[in-house]
Amino acid sequence: MEIWVLNGPNLNMLGIREPDIYGRMTLADLNAMLTETARELGAHLDFFQSNHEGALIDRIHAGYGRGLAGAILNPGGLTHTSIALHDAIKAVDYPVVEVHLSNVARREPWRSHSYVAAAAVGTIAGLGWRGYELALRYLVGVAAERG
Ligand code: DQA
Repeated sequence: MEIWVLNGPNLNMLGIREPDIYGRMTLADLNAMLTETARELGAHLDFFQSNHEGALIDRIHAGYGRGLAGAILNPGGLTHTSIALHDAIKAVDYPVVEVHLSNVARREPWRSHSYVAAAAVGTIAGLGWRGYELALRYLVGVAAERG
């Protein structure tokens, strides 16, 4: 069972960037934690981070037709701007769970709107790194049920 973990702009700066909001865990720490959970669940993860919208879109397209159980996507700031990311998710044949470390609904008003949300199967926000783990458990659970 394969699941992709996709992180957008500035998420390579986790641990350094606004730690009061995003915590002190680095992206490498987060990926290591997810790898451990995936091992327990019998899933294989593939990690990708880019600061470039087009690179993320190419990566989403690359998952098409591979029988992925799904993808976990934190689109970063592109959440609030990218119709193209919305369209890319709609174009592929696997479920995408949108994850945000912070509770975007409690921050600046412009963070409350997500172009990705209407294309994603669901959204988890405000639960920190645990949101990624919950998304992973969700995707594994759904894929296992499907058989
Ligand atoms: C974020 C929330 C976005 O509004 C912000 O631009 C990010 C990170 C989060 O994980 O909380 O880069 O997606």
